[in-house]
Amino acid sequence: MKYNPDSTTFAGNWKMNGRQDDTLDIEKLIKLISEDDANIILFPPYTLISSFVNISKNSNLNIGGQDCHHEDSGAFTGSISASMIRDSGANFVIIGHSEVRAMHGKGPDNIINKIQSAHENNLITIICVGEDIKVRSEGEHYNFISKQLKDSVSTTSNRNNTIIAYEPIWAIGTGNTATIEDIYEMHAHINNTLQDTDIFKKGNPSLLYGGSVNPENAGEILSIDNVSGVLVGGSSLDYSKFNEIIKSK
Ligand code: PGA
Repeated sequence: MKYNPDSTTFAGNWKMNGRQDDTLDIEKLIKLISEDDANIILFPPYTLISSFVNISKNSNLNIGGQDCHHEDSGAFTGSISASMIRDSGANFVIIGHSEVRAMHGKGPDNIINKIQSAHENNLITIICVGEDIKVRSEGEHYNFISKQLKDSVSTTSNRNNTIIAYEPIWAIGTGNTATIEDIYEMHAHINNTLQDTDIFKKGNPSLLYGGSVNPENAGEILSIDNVSGVLVGGSSLDYSKFNEIIKSK
C-alpha cells in the first residue's frame, strides 16, 4: 500500500453493490491503471474485501471498508470493526458517509470514536462532510461544514492518515453535481478551516469532491483549486468508466 497525499486520489464507493464475479472486472481495472501514479482506492461491500485484496496484491489498487464500528469487538450485531477491516487486508475506511449518518443517526462522538479506532488500527480515513438541501437553502452551509470538520479532527489525525471528502447530500446519486463555483468556494472554506486547527498546522490533508462525478465532469472538477481528488459512487461500478475518470486528471 502506498498513499501519497500530494498525488491525486480516486476513490470508488461501491455502496451495497458487487458480487464475487466482479473480480474479473477488477483484474481489468488493475491492468489499465498499472502505470498510474494516483492514489486509487475501491470500497467494495465487506463481503468482497478479502477477494479484492487478494487480486490487488502487488498492484497500485488499494482497498477499503465503507464504515466501521468504534469498538474493536463485542456484542454489536451486524457491525464490523476497524481492526476487522485491517485484518482482512484493507488499508482505508470511509467514515461519516451521509448514507451511514442517516441510517444510524449517530452524533459527533460516534464519528470521532470511529476515526480514532481506524487510526489506531493503521487505516487511512476518508471522512465525509456535506450539507443537505435545507441547510444550503438557509445559507447555513459554511457553518454546518465548519462544525462537521471540528467534530472530525482527532488528536490521532495527520496529513498522511486523513482525507476529507466534501459531498453535498443534494448531489449524491442525483445527477445534480454541485457547480464549479459551489465546489471552489466550499473547498476554499474547508482548506482555511483546517489550516486554522493545531492538528493540520504542518499541512492540510487531501480534499476530495463527491456527488454525481462521472467521466464527463471529472476533468473540470479536478482542475478546481484545492480539489485533489474525487469520491465516486455510481460511476465507479463500471471499471471502464472509473478508469476514464482516473485518466481525466
Ligand atoms: P454518486 O455517490 O457518485 O453516486 O453520487 C457518491 C458517494 O456517495 O460517495
